[in-house]
Amino acid sequence: MVGRALVKHCEGRGDEVLAFDRAALDIADETAVSETVGRERPEAVVNCAAWTDVDGCEGDPARAHAANALGPEHLAAACRRAGAVLVTISTDYVFDGRKDGFYTQRDDPNPESVYGRAKLEGERRAQAACARTVVVRTGWIFGEGGKSFLSRVVELGRRGEPLKAIRDAWGTPTYADDLAARLRRLAELDLPGVYHVTNAGEGTSYYEFTRAAFGAAGCDASLVEAVSMGSLSRPAPRPRNSRLRCLLSEAVGLPPLPDWREALARFVAAAAR
Ligand SMILES: NC(=O)c1ccc[n+]([C@@H]2O[C@H](COP(=O)([O-])OP(=O)(O)OC[C@H]3O[C@@H](n4cnc5c(N)ncnc54)[C@H](OP(=O)(O)O)[C@@H]3O)[C@@H](O)[C@H]2O)c1
Repeated sequence: MVGRALVKHCEGRGDEVLAFDRAALDIADETAVSETVGRERPEAVVNCAAWTDVDGCEGDPARAHAANALGPEHLAAACRRAGAVLVTISTDYVFDGRKDGFYTQRDDPNPESVYGRAKLEGERRAQAACARTVVVRTGWIFGEGGKSFLSRVVELGRRGEPLKAIRDAWGTPTYADDLAARLRRLAELDLPGVYHVTNAGEGTSYYEFTRAAFGAAGCDASLVEAVSMGSLSRPAPRPRNSRLRCLLSEAVGLPPLPDWREALARFVAAAAR
């Protein structure tokens, strides 16, 4: 989802973009990564690849580690050799969710899922392998072609299907298109560090997000049933609160991304076309 949005954004800006899906480049394959980056000599690498099936990761820690921890490390080592900046995407799931309010870079990560632990390991390995590593923690992404609940609510609503939405888990929604623009900007800035990138606003619950999406799309809000996170009994634990705020962005002169409700309206309008 994010990779596609990024390719579109960068091509629109006139960049020469080399895009790879998993069949073209497995980031867990150290040799393939080294050869590809060494051959292409890019100015910047933006890693949007990950094994994002949070429940799948819980049952297969070795595969999660290969894609989400070793993958970023291999890319970082190859970037160091090629003199490229690496931007690698991480997740709000590095936090345990017990904090009230927003997580910033001053909060210690404490992931509770296999996915979250592997992603944190990926952050650290990438930073150790290449000084020019920019880690972008984000969360609750929605966008065209996304498989997640947030990306699909409008489609489900338009079909008139009833759906359950969690009322007691909170995050900061992030539109893939806005994230893509910020990823490119961060690659350009080339200022290493850990950034938290989300749309602006106070954050929301899945339930409130779904109601807002239904409102924007003109769907029947009575189809949405509020449920508790515990009632879903999924294999992997998720943080109850993973709202993110960035201490660095403003300091380096980056404006906040648009409010998530405005971003959601753009997403809904794009989905209607
Ligand atoms: N979606 C969210 O809400 C969310 C929240 C926080 C952070 N993130 C992070 O944001 C980034 C982008 O996520 P997304 O939502 O765009 O995920 P996505 O739609 O699942 O895309 C991830 C892509 O990575 C590919 N991939 C998996 N393992 C790979 C490997 N070993 N080598 C190369 N490619 C591989 C997948 O290919 P296959 O489909 O063929 O497996 C898929 O095309 C990820 O780092 C994710 O952890 C996402």
